[in-house]
Amino acid sequence: MRHLRVPRRETSLWRDKLASNGWLAEGHGIHKLGEFTGIPLSEGAPSKIDELEMIELEPLTSGPKHWTERISEDIPVALRELLPMSHDQIGDVIIVKIPDELEPYSKSIGEAMIAQHPSARIVCADNGVKGNFRVRDLAVLAADETESTRTRVREHGNVFWTDPGLVYYSPRLANERLETIECARNLSLKLGRRISVCDPYAGVGPALVPLTKLPEIVDEIYASDLNPHAAELLQLNLPNQHTRCADALTLSAELPECCDLLLVNLPHDCIEHIPHLLGLLKKGQEVAIRGWAIIPAESLQDAEAEIRNHLSKSEVLSLEVKSKKSYASNIEYVGIEVHLVRS
Ligand SMILES: C[S@@+](CC[C@H](N)C(=O)[O-])C[C@H]1O[C@@H](n2cnc3c(N)ncnc32)[C@H](O)[C@@H]1O
Repeated sequence: MRHLRVPRRETSLWRDKLASNGWLAEGHGIHKLGEFTGIPLSEGAPSKIDELEMIELEPLTSGPKHWTERISEDIPVALRELLPMSHDQIGDVIIVKIPDELEPYSKSIGEAMIAQHPSARIVCADNGVKGNFRVRDLAVLAADETESTRTRVREHGNVFWTDPGLVYYSPRLANERLETIECARNLSLKLGRRISVCDPYAGVGPALVPLTKLPEIVDEIYASDLNPHAAELLQLNLPNQHTRCADALTLSAELPECCDLLLVNLPHDCIEHIPHLLGLLKKGQEVAIRGWAIIPAESLQDAEAEIRNHLSKSEVLSLEVKSKKSYASNIEYVGIEVHLVRS
C-alpha cells in the first residue's frame, strides 16, 4: 500500500490534511520509521503530494484498539477502573491526568499511550495549571525523541508553534477566535479601512495568526505577553508583526492609541484590567474590545455595571456580556464585546 513519508513531528498535521482531502486510507495504522512516519494513502490520493516521498509498505491493520490493552505491568484489578479514559493532544504532545493511585504505573501508561498513538512524540502527566501565566505543570512519562514539549498545532487551517509545558494554549477556544475574525471584519467594514489589532495577553498568538491572513481588513498587529516563553513563540508565529514581552498593565505608555480592536484574554482578571488598557485604543472613532471573563453566574449584571463604570468617560455604543459555557459549579465563562468611542 502507498504511504506518504513525512517528518515525524509533522505527522498529525499531515494526517489531518490527508483526511480532509479524502486521501487517508481509513482503518490502517501509521508506520513509525525513525525520524519519519508512513501515513497510509487512499486509492484516490494523487501521485504527488508536495515534495514528499511515497513508499510502498505493508498496511498496518489489527493491533490493540485502546492503549489500555498494551499495559504489560500487572495493574491490580481494583485500580484498573481508575485508568484515564480521556486525554488531550496538543500537536504531538499527549497530556493525561494520572490519578494518585496509579502514579507507580505512570511510566507504563505513558509508554502504552505513545505506542498506541503514532502521531504522538511525547506523553506527559498533567499536574495542574500553575501561576499567573496559567501554564500546566507537566511531567514527562514517555518520549520518542527529545523531551521538549515545543510542538506545532493546526487550528482552522492555521499552523503555529506552542509549548504546553511553558506557555498557556487551549485549543478549546478556537471558536472564539473565529468570532474575533468576524468582529474585526465588521469593524473594518464600518470604519471603511483596515484596522489595527492589539492582543496584550496574546500567549503564542492563536487569535492573531488567522488575522495575518486577512491583510484586506487588518493593518498593524500588536502582540505581547508577560511570559517570556510566550513572547519568544509569538515572534516565531508572527514574524512580521510588533511582538514583545510586556506587562499589559503598562503597555499603553509604550503604545498609546495603537489599535481599533483590543483583545483582553485574561479571564480571572479581565474586568479589573480594562481601565489600564483603554489607552491602547484610538480616540474619537468607534473601537471595540473583546474580552473573556470567569464570573459567578449570578454576577453577570454586576459585571456589566462594572464595565460601564470603567468606561464612564467614553461613549458606549453597545455592550454584551454573554455566557459561553459553565466553568465550574455556579461559575460562568463569559464573552464580553464592547463598542465605544473614546474622547
Ligand atoms: C488565558 S491566557 C490567553 C493566551 C492567549 N490569548 C490564548 O488565547 O491562547 C492569558 C495570557 O496572559 C498572560 N499574562 C498574564 N498576566 C499578564 C500581564 N500582566 N501582562 C501580559 N500578559 C499577561 C499569560 O502569560 C497568558 O499567556
